[in-house]
Amino acid sequence: MYVSTPRNILIVGASGGVGRALLDEICQRYPDAASFAWSRTMPVSLPAGVRWASVDITDEASIMKAAATIPELDLVVVATGLLHRPGHDAMQAVSPEKSWRAIDAAAMAESYLINAIGPALVAKHILSKLPRDRRSVFAALSARVGSISDNRLGGWYSYRASKAALNQIIRTLAVELSVKSPKAICVGLHPGTVDTPLSQPFQAIVAADRLFTPAQTANHLVTVIEALQLSQSGRVLDWAGKVVPE
Ligand SMILES: NC(=O)c1ccc[n+]([C@@H]2O[C@H](COP(=O)([O-])OP(=O)(O)OC[C@H]3O[C@@H](n4cnc5c(N)ncnc54)[C@H](OP(=O)(O)O)[C@@H]3O)[C@@H](O)[C@H]2O)c1
Repeated sequence: MYVSTPRNILIVGASGGVGRALLDEICQRYPDAASFAWSRTMPVSLPAGVRWASVDITDEASIMKAAATIPELDLVVVATGLLHRPGHDAMQAVSPEKSWRAIDAAAMAESYLINAIGPALVAKHILSKLPRDRRSVFAALSARVGSISDNRLGGWYSYRASKAALNQIIRTLAVELSVKSPKAICVGLHPGTVDTPLSQPFQAIVAADRLFTPAQTANHLVTVIEALQLSQSGRVLDWAGKVVPE
C-alpha cells in the first residue's frame, strides 16, 4: 500500500475510455492531490481542479511543453493506445491483421509509433520528475497479447509486436530507474477487456462477466498500483495484480 497518498498525478490519454475513468478514480481516491491530464483531443468534461494540456504523444515538442509546467510527479499512468482506426484523408487505416497477408508497413509503423515510441517519449520527459526519496509509480497500459510466451492464437501482428516492444521499453526503463530513482516503480498494466472504442469491434467473443466497464477497470488498476512492490518494477501485471508472462 502507499506509504503516503500520491501528491501529484498525471494521466496521459485522458480522452480515452480507460484514461478518462482513471482520472475520475484518482480524483475520488486522492482528492487532495494535484491532478494533471494530457490528451490529444480535449475530453468533453473534466473533474474539477484537473489541469489539462494538449499533448500528442508522437510529437515530442508537445510533450516537452506540457512537462515543463509540472514540477514533480509521484503517479503517472500512460493510457494511450491504438488497435484499429478507419483511414481518412492522409491517415492510414489500421486494423488488426488476421493473417501475415494483411501486414502493411505504414499501419505497422503507426502501431509502433503510438503503442511503443509515444510512451517512451513520455517517459523520457517525465521520469526525471519522480522523487528520489519516496515511492512513486510510472505505469503504461499494455496488453496481454504483447506476451510472447502466451501467444497461442496468433494474428494481430502489429498490436502484439508493438505491445511487446512497449513491455521491453518498460523493463529497460525500470533498470535505469533503479539507479536514478531507487524508490520508483515502473510497470506495464493489462486492463482486461474493457468496454471502450478500442475493444468495441471485438466484444462479441468476450464473455459478459469478462467485459469490464471503464469505471470497474479504473478501480482495478488503481488498486493494483497501490499494492505494487519495488520488486515488481519492470514487469507487466494484469487487472487482478497477476504477472503477465513475458
Ligand atoms: N479496451 C480494452 O479492452 C483494452 C484491452 C487491453 C489493453 N488495452 C490498452 O489500454 C489502453 C487504453 O485503451 P482504451 O480502451 O481506453 O482505448 P481508447 O478508448 O481507444 O483510448 C485510446 C486513447 O489513446 C489516445 N491516443 C491515441 N493516439 C494518440 C496520440 N498520438 N497522442 C495522444 N493520445 C493518443 C486517444 O486519444 P484521441 O482521442 O485523441 O485519439 C485515446 O484517448 C491502450 O493502451 C490499450 O491498448 C485496452
